[in-house]
Amino acid sequence: MYKILKKEQLSSVVWLMVVEAPLVARHCQPGQFIIVKSGEEGERIPLTICDYDREAGTVTIVFQPLGVSTLKFLRLEEGDCFDDFVGPLGRPSDIVEMSHAELCSKKFLFVAGGVGTAPVYPQVKWLREHGYEADVIIGARTKDLLFFEDEMRAVATNLYITTDDGSYVHKGVVTSVIDELVASGREYNHCVAIGPMIMMKFVCLTTKKYEIPTIVSMNPIMVDGTGMCGACRLSVGDEIKFACVDGPEFDGFKINWSEAMKRMQLYKTEEGRAKLRYEEGETHSGNCGN
Ligand code: NAD
Ligand code: FES
Repeated sequence: MYKILKKEQLSSVVWLMVVEAPLVARHCQPGQFIIVKSGEEGERIPLTICDYDREAGTVTIVFQPLGVSTLKFLRLEEGDCFDDFVGPLGRPSDIVEMSHAELCSKKFLFVAGGVGTAPVYPQVKWLREHGYEADVIIGARTKDLLFFEDEMRAVATNLYITTDDGSYVHKGVVTSVIDELVASGREYNHCVAIGPMIMMKFVCLTTKKYEIPTIVSMNPIMVDGTGMCGACRLSVGDEIKFACVDGPEFDGFKINWSEAMKRMQLYKTEEGRAKLRYEEGETHSGNCGN
């Protein structure tokens, strides 16, 4: 059992929980995710790790209650426990495996959209803790949906906030800020974009214009998070990958966005899943990534 030590509402729709999970905390890295389950019959929910404290043995998760399972998470209070908290899963972010020389050569731009702000945070924090700089853009539809402003300001070199409706700081979506930064003469050679699929697609279209290689996190298409259900299958260049075992991070310029977005919609219904099984046969499912 994994005890919830802290529960906090971050915005009108987003919640944070700090969970006692010493083994996960000891081994996890930025970019990895865990699978959480509440109740014997509960659904397995993959969530990107937002923060961790190896000494305290805690892992922080951030979620937006949307389906029945995440709504049930909301009923849990501090002192209650998750039945399962499995991880760390997936591959760590590229930054963790880069050499010192490579990291020094990077001019990082992180683009966080909405709930995607949570998985951006541990990467920027990791860079700061290791002595590297990174600019960050956070985009939210409106001021009420913005969270982690202070936390991100503490670890980012420059933080740019934008709201779609102009209710706070800048008005416009994240891509408009990228255009403005580049136009003002700022140079970047490594972008990481994490947020809704449509945002990641449009960030890639924007950064491609400026030849800024861009990594995205395909967490939104995961369902069981174990390589078995096939939901997270995607085309990356000429290869078939599974976000939960080969990712979740991939080269955004190589992703077939229209296919990934179509599959995500199809996977939401029984009929859609049957159609995918029929069309893709044996290769539909990841079967542990093979
Ligand atoms: P949202 O719809 O509020 O969008 C957040 C920001 O993204 C916007 O404020 C805007 O700046 C930008 N954006 C959206 N559409 C854009 C477009 N067409 N062009 C340019 N910029 C655009 O986001 P939300 O409601 O917080 O997002 C929820 C989604 O985020 C869920 O679908 C969830 O799966 C996904 N998510 C993804 C990850 C990940 O690892 N990629 C992590 C957590 C959540
Ligand atoms: Fe099911 Fe990856 S989420 S195969």
